[in-house]
Amino acid sequence: GVKGFQRVTPSQLKKMTGRKGKPAWSSWQGKVYNITPYLPFHPGGEAELMKAAGRDGAKLFMDVHPWVNWENMLGACLVGVLVPEEESPL
Ligand code: HEM
Repeated sequence: GVKGFQRVTPSQLKKMTGRKGKPAWSSWQGKVYNITPYLPFHPGGEAELMKAAGRDGAKLFMDVHPWVNWENMLGACLVGVLVPEEESPL
């Protein structure tokens, strides 16, 4: 069914490293994406994309390919929105 988007704090994002059984998440302009399904398809390779895991990927992304449309490509992988630490119930 349709699932609501999650509210994700910076500390939660930091744990989504793609390691130890966790998915790899990365944020872009305040939105959080699961980049795990895209890893095998990334033209720049998995290792490069994994540098953005557990953190904001905008700087790395824009340094390499500002012409690529993150939101179009990973729209289906949107997990939720970043919220300040204190707003999380967790
Ligand atoms: C290439 C998508 C993140 C490093 C590409 C290309 C696409 C793409 C479509 C081919 C671009 C072209 O040929 O014009 C994405 C998406 C990302 C992402 C959707 C969202 C998470 C990153 C990050 C890094 C990175 C975070 C670096 C830390 C590279 C490199 C290439 C590349 C080095 C060049 C590969 C080559 O031409 O040999 N990426 N990328 N990408 N990407 Fe990404």
